[in-house]
Amino acid sequence: MSGDAARDLEEWIPRLITLWRQQRAARTKGPRPPPRGRHVEEAPSAKLTPQEIKEVGAGIKRLSHGLTRERELAGAKYMDDPALLGAYLLFYWPVSYAQSRSLLSELPARPRSLLDLGSGPGPLAFAGIDAGARETIAADRSKPALELARQLAIASSESLGTREWSPERPLPEGTFDVITMGHVLNELFAGDVEKRAALVERVLERLKPGGSLVVMEPALRDTSRALLQVRDVLVAKGYAVRAPCLFRGACPALIKPSDWCHAERPWRMPALTEALARSASLHKESLKMSYLVLAPKGEAWAEPPKGRVLRIVSEALEGKGRQRFMGCGPEGRIGLALQDKHRNPGNEKFFHLQRGEVIRIGGVLEEKGDGAGLSDQSTVELVARAGQAVPKP
Ligand SMILES: C[S@@+](CC[C@H](N)C(=O)[O-])C[C@H]1O[C@@H](n2cnc3c(N)ncnc32)[C@H](O)[C@@H]1O
Repeated sequence: MSGDAARDLEEWIPRLITLWRQQRAARTKGPRPPPRGRHVEEAPSAKLTPQEIKEVGAGIKRLSHGLTRERELAGAKYMDDPALLGAYLLFYWPVSYAQSRSLLSELPARPRSLLDLGSGPGPLAFAGIDAGARETIAADRSKPALELARQLAIASSESLGTREWSPERPLPEGTFDVITMGHVLNELFAGDVEKRAALVERVLERLKPGGSLVVMEPALRDTSRALLQVRDVLVAKGYAVRAPCLFRGACPALIKPSDWCHAERPWRMPALTEALARSASLHKESLKMSYLVLAPKGEAWAEPPKGRVLRIVSEALEGKGRQRFMGCGPEGRIGLALQDKHRNPGNEKFFHLQRGEVIRIGGVLEEKGDGAGLSDQSTVELVARAGQAVPKP
């Protein structure tokens, strides 16, 4: 995530805390009586108290369990439970905001108009606004979540439209430069891939020419594979993927049931997230998500950069005396390996690769069916960092 995005996020944190406290006060005590006589209001602390952290931490644990482990909350109306909505606002909102900023930076153009579907309290909508969107609509079925999004718009003096929406209802009017769907697809249609793909296709009709649909999902094997299945339906129908795929065929990560594909990006974790993650025994040191950026119907796939290019789709893999990664490019998904003894300035980059980076390799020593062995004659060059648009040839 860029320095600007990290600074923008820090500005949201006190607003989130203030709003959470207001909501909590309203539901536990009713509205506070106005102060009597001369009264100097103490500025509310921008940090949660230990008691508040404990309370929110309990909500985060319920959410995390229900959305990522047993998944009994996926598809349920958890945003209408004030304690869970509050936990979402303080913990998942900043994470989704940061994830979204790091994906929006990958788009070919800054969005002017943006529709956020399944917005919840609007982290992706506000990420879009901070990335330059001027006309933004947040749409969700949860009225309380939309109300929080409206309150955040007031607190930040930003303009945001809200609409009640669910997949069986028509989409909000208009066409948009960017449409986002953050962590919502996996909650729809009880896993039915065809229905999800049909919804995504309807959504794609609402993009302006050159626009982008950004679908972001949790970095879990099952939700990631389900997203890849939706991708394959759309790719088979001729839609182009802007990111992360360079391969235009059926996704090779679906061949083996144990494979999947996700992004991992560094971020400057806000102190609030750190404290709450500790309290809920969760880890958020990096941003992990699965994602897909789709182009509107009729737009061709972008030509890949010249040479043999691959996106790194794994972390560094164990290997005795050698470095290994998985790469995925126009040729498909392949293993890449380079022995320590062949390390030199021309291939040094191979030893520092990050998931999501796009590289160009040259001078491969050994071609195997499912991989490429690099040598001291090989070159490794960075083409695009993770979160950067891949340059045109
Ligand atoms: C995990 S939250 C994601 C919120 C936000 N987009 C983000 O990425 O942080 C999923 C959202 O999808 C919404 N959602 C779930 N099922 C829905 C449905 N059938 N119709 C509309 N929204 C739905 C929920 O209300 C919730 O706000």
